[in-house]
Amino acid sequence: MLLNSPLKMCTWAIAWAVLAAAWSTAQAADAKAGQVKANMCVTCHGAYGLSTMPNAPHLAGQPAIYIEEQLKQYRSGKRANEVMAVMAKPLTDSEIENLAAWYASIPIEVGQPR
Ligand code: HEC
Repeated sequence: MLLNSPLKMCTWAIAWAVLAAAWSTAQAADAKAGQVKANMCVTCHGAYGLSTMPNAPHLAGQPAIYIEEQLKQYRSGKRANEVMAVMAKPLTDSEIENLAAWYASIPIEVGQPR
């Protein structure tokens, strides 16, 4: 038997606890911190991700993975835009994850076209 001794069971329990902790750390994007960081984005993208400038896209409700990818591409230059390159350049990976979590957490509603 694999789990026949208390010592072995204990070892397994610790291994699972360590794995679970590592997993939750990796998942821990912080939408609240993202909202604070997004102060530098509100002029164009609005306080709740509904843009106030006609040429800036809405961000509210976009999937986090999409926002994250776009910001990383602006940062690397793969997606070229003068304004967003300047905005994305100083952002760290975790700041990008937090910003993405913030915008993704904003609920949006659509209706029938008028
Ligand atoms: C001065 C205005 C301005 C500011 C400030 C600004 N943006 Fe933008 N943002 C734009 C414009 C304009 C675009 C469209 C660029 C393009 O055509 O690629 C854009 C595009 C984006 C996109 C791509 C959206 C999509 O649908 O593909 C993301 C994500 C984004 N901005 C996030 C941010 C974040 C996060 C901040 C703050 C750190 C920020 N922006 C600050 C003007 C701005």
